[in-house]
Amino acid sequence: MTRARVPAVRVDDVTVRYGEVLALEGATLSLEAGRVCGIIGMNGAGKSTLFKAMMGIVRPDRGRIALEGLSTARARKSGTVGYVPQNEAVDWAFPVSVRDVVTMGRYGRMGPTRRPRRADRAAVAEALDRVGLIDLAERQIGRLSGGQRKRAFVARAIAQGAGVMLLDEPFAGVDRRSEQTITRLLRELAADGAAILVSTHDLHALPQLADEAILLNRRVLLHDTPEAVLRPENLALAFGTPPGDGDLADADPSDAGAGTGADLVRTDPAGADADPEPNTPGQEQR
Ligand SMILES: Nc1ncnc2c1ncn2[C@@H]1O[C@H](COP(=O)(O)OP(=O)(O)O)[C@@H](O)[C@H]1O
Ligand SMILES: [Mg+2]
Repeated sequence: MTRARVPAVRVDDVTVRYGEVLALEGATLSLEAGRVCGIIGMNGAGKSTLFKAMMGIVRPDRGRIALEGLSTARARKSGTVGYVPQNEAVDWAFPVSVRDVVTMGRYGRMGPTRRPRRADRAAVAEALDRVGLIDLAERQIGRLSGGQRKRAFVARAIAQGAGVMLLDEPFAGVDRRSEQTITRLLRELAADGAAILVSTHDLHALPQLADEAILLNRRVLLHDTPEAVLRPENLALAFGTPPGDGDLADADPSDAGAGTGADLVRTDPAGADADPEPNTPGQEQR
């Protein structure tokens, strides 16, 4: 007898508005455990909004999201979902060390005292080692390079043991070595059973990185293999004209409204229980 499988990620008909701005419109997708899915789309296409909706940081006007069968709030509180935010969404001046950031991944397991036990410390050290940051563990998070910062957040999700991982442009502004390290780690984590969604502008690297890919422009335009998504006629669905040979330029830095340091400042996972308020333009839910 076959058992019906619950997909690790289900996003069903999700619409998100910021005031007048329609950021997502009836977005629907699902992803099985053990798969890496690339999210491709122009700036402003709603990639970050999709991740924030999945984290319960912004509230959909409509639709449902389930992560390993849990609501976003429960998935976040239980540590089921790990999030590597876009650079702009992090307060890099926050006075925490790399080890502190990775330890935050264990909060869901630590109970109200947040006192790390031996297992927590071991998981943090192992995650730091896997991303190659063990020697920089005591450094303030803002004093890392772009690639090292991303690796620190990946380590946090590893320490957390998240079954669903969301990475918002983890390759933007990182060196080649960090990109390769992160790609290898994501492949390993998927092989261990994680479901991974990763937005990226690096189209060349997509086939190595991802098992499947989504073209997003407010809606899911196409969800197929990386090879199919990369066909010029399909890319044209999302970008108008097919992009040239290089990576996609960040032509529109209109992300500015996104950053409130939600992640590093979010030191109270109990707050994840709260129902987010309606979204207001220019201000992000915390
Ligand atoms: N906090 C916000 N307030 C108002 N508009 C926003 C906010 N965040 C994003 N937007 C708008 O929503 C749309 C989708 O943005 P976003 O999800 O950041 O796209 P992407 O990550 O693909 O660049 C854009 O038009 C953007 O300007
Ligand atoms: Mg974005």
